[in-house]
Parts: sequence; C-alpha cells; structure tokens
Amino acid sequence: SKRVAVLTSGGDAPGMNACIRAIVIACKKRNYDLIGYLHGYNGLIKQESISLSLDSTHNLIQQGGTVLHSARCKAFTEEAGLKQAAANLSEAGVDALLVIGGDGSFRGATHLADHYLGQIIGIPGTIDNDIAGTDATIGYYTAIDTAMNSIDKVRDTADAFERIFLVEVMGRHAGFLALNAALSSAADYVILPEFFESPESEIKKILTQIHAQRRVRGSVSFIVVVAENVWPQGLQALTKALNDSGITDVRPVTLGHVQRGGTPVSNDRLLATSLGEYAVSLVGTDTSNVMVGEVNREPTTVPLTTTSDSKPLNSAQVALMKSIMNERYG
Ligand code: F6P
Repeated sequence: SKRVAVLTSGGDAPGMNACIRAIVIACKKRNYDLIGYLHGYNGLIKQESISLSLDSTHNLIQQGGTVLHSARCKAFTEEAGLKQAAANLSEAGVDALLVIGGDGSFRGATHLADHYLGQIIGIPGTIDNDIAGTDATIGYYTAIDTAMNSIDKVRDTADAFERIFLVEVMGRHAGFLALNAALSSAADYVILPEFFESPESEIKKILTQIHAQRRVRGSVSFIVVVAENVWPQGLQALTKALNDSGITDVRPVTLGHVQRGGTPVSNDRLLATSLGEYAVSLVGTDTSNVMVGEVNREPTTVPLTTTSDSKPLNSAQVALMKSIMNERYG
C-alpha cells in the first residue's frame, strides 16, 4: 500500500476543498493512507498534519477556502527548510506528495524534488489561471462569476448616477480573470497587462470611448475593468488621471479578496474532482515532478518546471473584447 500526503499552498481558491475530497475518495478506493499537511509548506516543515478520512468529506465539495489552510512559506525558499521538509516526508513514510497551488507552490515543489525522492504531483489551484499546461485552474471559474456578479451590481449604481466606475479585479500579472469578468459583465473597457502600452495611450482610448458613447447615447454609465498590478501607482492614480482630464465623478472599486471566496461553481468542482482522482491514479507510477491538468477536457501531465511558462489569453476572446471597445461607438 501507499502513503499519500496532500497540502494546499499559496492563494486559496474555491474548489480546493472539492479537490481534497476527490483525493480522499481516490485514496480510500485504493486503500492508500492519506495525511493532510496544514498551512501549506509550513505544516510540512513543522510536521503539522491531520489524517483525512471519508468522514472529513461530508459537505466538503461546496465549501470555499481550504480545510487544510494555506500559506505562502518563506522558509521553503531556503535550503534548510527544503531539507527539513524532505526529512519529515521520509520519516512519515510518504510515498507521494500532492501539492494543490499555483506558480510559487510549484516552484517550491520543484526545489523540494532536489531533496525528496518520493513522488511529487502538482494540481493547479488559483483564481488567476496563470499556469501553463492546463486550460483552467481550480478556482478560476468561480472567481469569474464572483467578479461578474460584483460588476453587475456596480452597473446598477453606475446607471443610476450615469457615472464612470473603475473596477479592479485580481489575477496577479495575468489578465485571464479581468478579460473574462469584462466580457461576461459587458464592461465598456478593460485594461490588461498583456496589452498595456502606457498610461497616456490607455487614458486617450478610454476618453475617446467615453466621448463616442456619450455622443451616441447621451449621459450613460461606463465601466472600466482594470487588472490589478497593471496601472502604475494603482487605481487611485488612474481615478485622478481621469478626473484631471475633465471626466468628473469617477469612482474606483477594488473587488479584492472577495474574489477568492465563496462556494465553487460547477466547473471548478468538476475540474477539482477530475484532477484529484487523476493525481492519485498516478501514485505508484514513475511519473513524478509533474502537474496534472486538463486540456480540451482531457487529463494531461506536464513537467512542474514548465508550469511557469507564459500562457496566452484566448485570442478569440481578446478579439471580441477589442471589437467591443473600439467599434461599438467608434
Ligand atoms: O494568486 C491569487 C491572488 O489572489 C492574486 O490574484 C493576488 O495578486 C494575490 O493572490 C494576493 O495575495 P495575498 O492574498 O497574499 O494578498
């Protein structure tokens, strides 16, 4: 029999619990022992673990957050921390470690592989979808829905006052969440890291768009979705720049960590369930230091080291958003 360990690391994402549930069930089916390390890699270093049984899976699929808790772990970027973790895994007799997380977590896992001889399998969990080797990451679909619903609400008040709103969405340095939130909420403009040229050119385009729209439709609301980390000096600076260029009454809204919470939507539950089962199915094979993912709905594995490669936005979606921004009133 095998001994499997699982942990969740980095920014939590809706569906992490659904994945833990799938792993518990997949291990039970194969008579594997399963332990869960708490607080990401910190628990691995400090030997904080819990055993996970079928009892722990009741109602788990619908819970946001992660019952294993999460963390970003500084000690795991250092040799001493990695060695300690590897020693703890060997001592606990762990044959395979499953890491549910994002980019930073997979970098940590890659370094751990220099010290730990067991299997390491990554499972992509982040609202940012910025992981190469999988079409979507666990949590991404829910975060789009949350952002979309929030922007719908902003639209109500924006319409009432015929105001301009800037809505900042998460995504780290990628525009997946921003683009999909913008498209699904019929935002009027989006600022994405992948296409950001300069503050001046973005402001010029926004103003052209607002003026064109007002010419055609009179005074109406206007919503700009802004990907986080893209505007130099942040959302307040963009608000001020627009106010300074004669557009008054601009309101900034930062959606923030709301986007990380909530019950996962079905697509995230389905992805989490498939990937959890698939990861456990690889235990005992000679596949290691890989991330499991789904491409065109088929399970795949890619080396952990390639998961930080750049991942392009969907080009059809980009073209669609561009046409909405440029041609609707142009
Ligand atoms: O990676 C998930 C994420 O929510 C990003 O979208 C965001 O940039 C970051 O984490 C925020 O990190 P923290 O929760 O540490 O503030």
